[in-house]
Amino acid sequence: MSVQSENFNKVTINTLREMKANEEKIACLTAYDVSFAQLLDNAGADIVLVGDSLGMVIQGLDSTIPVTMDEMIYHGQVVSRGLKRALLIMDMPFMSDASTSQAVENAGRFMKECGANMVKLEGGADQQELVETLTRLGIPVCAHLGLQPQRVHKLGGYKVQGRDKATADKMLNDARVLEQAGADLLLLECVPDELARRVSEQSTIPVIGIGAGNQTDGQILVLYDILGISAGRIPRFSKNYMPQASSIQQAVEQYIEEVKSSKFPDKDHTFN
Ligand code: KIV
Repeated sequence: MSVQSENFNKVTINTLREMKANEEKIACLTAYDVSFAQLLDNAGADIVLVGDSLGMVIQGLDSTIPVTMDEMIYHGQVVSRGLKRALLIMDMPFMSDASTSQAVENAGRFMKECGANMVKLEGGADQQELVETLTRLGIPVCAHLGLQPQRVHKLGGYKVQGRDKATADKMLNDARVLEQAGADLLLLECVPDELARRVSEQSTIPVIGIGAGNQTDGQILVLYDILGISAGRIPRFSKNYMPQASSIQQAVEQYIEEVKSSKFPDKDHTFN
């Protein structure tokens, strides 16, 4: 029996739903290796995401687009060894979900080879059929709306999404369709706070924000951004916790505490 299956405190999709119902904020971070995974788990992170952001913060690439399935599998395996309590989400990299059969095979690899508890997919209502298929196969899905870094060339850059009525209405509809298709979690990236509030309010599944204000059910940031060590520019919605901390552990704990108490994100880290 694995360490994970012995742990009765393990965060599950039911825990996340209960947290939403009880208005307890969900604190999430990315991780890419076992040492940080263990540190985040001990600090009380509810969700750890092996994000394809590893292309930028680990590999020094300009975007997440070149990240491969094999690279994700490697990082997923090492991260999962560090987790006892936190729920593990794995990002489906660019083109790994280009067809339903490819997506099923790749999501299955994350579950079987990494011990993932959920997979994350970028895309709106166009992913309905795929979310239904993964749900039918018992693979929990986190849908990713708003800024979708894998579609950066189609979006014309890394920009806040949903600022006008048409794109805001589309996002509200995408969220509805994906929830009905069986998504268990929704992630909103770079979305004005009022729109993020509306999406969170209409959704019965938990909504996690990154650059989406503090009225979502939880928050996620890229670990290296909160430690101030990411290669390149740290996004305006993120916050470096190291200047006030005496250790990495303390910086992570402070982030989790600020998410739980709704102190983060404040106005300076929110888009209107
Ligand atoms: O790849 C990633 O780390 C992500 C987060 C930015 C949410 O998708």
